[in-house]
Amino acid sequence: MRLDRYLVALGEGSRTEVQDRIRRGQVCLQGHVMTRPETECGRNPEITLEGRRLDTRLIRHVMLHKPEHVLTAARDRKQKTVMDLLPGVYASLGCMPVGRLDRDTTGLLLLTCDGELNHRLLSPRRHVDKVYEAEVEGTPGAEEIRRFGEGLFLGDFTAAPALLEILETGEHSLARVTIHEGKFHQVRRMFEAVGHPVRRLHRSAFGPLILPEDLLPGTFRELTETEENAVYAAAGMERKQ
Ligand code: URA
Repeated sequence: MRLDRYLVALGEGSRTEVQDRIRRGQVCLQGHVMTRPETECGRNPEITLEGRRLDTRLIRHVMLHKPEHVLTAARDRKQKTVMDLLPGVYASLGCMPVGRLDRDTTGLLLLTCDGELNHRLLSPRRHVDKVYEAEVEGTPGAEEIRRFGEGLFLGDFTAAPALLEILETGEHSLARVTIHEGKFHQVRRMFEAVGHPVRRLHRSAFGPLILPEDLLPGTFRELTETEENAVYAAAGMERKQ
């Protein structure tokens, strides 16, 4: 990739701004000042901007603890989106949410700059498990566990068999459900269909990723190497970079 494009991708300014900085001798590539914006960078380049060493990784993966009242969207003119919770470099690099959580759903959301990985993790053929904890009205029992396990008819489609576990019972119960699809409002619709509407929904795991307890709502971190490897394996792909 050209040096000017690389700097734009890293969120260091507009094309004109970075070209100007390169021409003024503010940018070093592999330790040498480069004044031509079209200089090719090669793979994993070492770039400094006015002496500041840049993180030049183009492919990054982020685990976000999505809070309530935030949209899973790249941008929205009125409402806060998950991209607003991350530094701008992730948007510049083209990081996108893998699937979506409803505005009121909390929990683990993966974002990645790798479009193919994103696509494959969402493919129904890959059967990537998603685990949700749901606070529901009333107490689901053996009948609901059976119906979830058989695959529920939801009007326009039949949900694939899902594992339902009841964790706490009462006027409002706590249930854990494991699904491998990701249809719009799927978990809410499944509980609605068996007469136990969802009051709160939280995703605690996505494929091999488990939301760490110390990752507070609204905060994020990049995946560890082990997590990255596990996510690529779940997608049936070789890890990039
Ligand atoms: N199912 C839902 O109903 N909502 C979510 O946010 C995720 C899964």
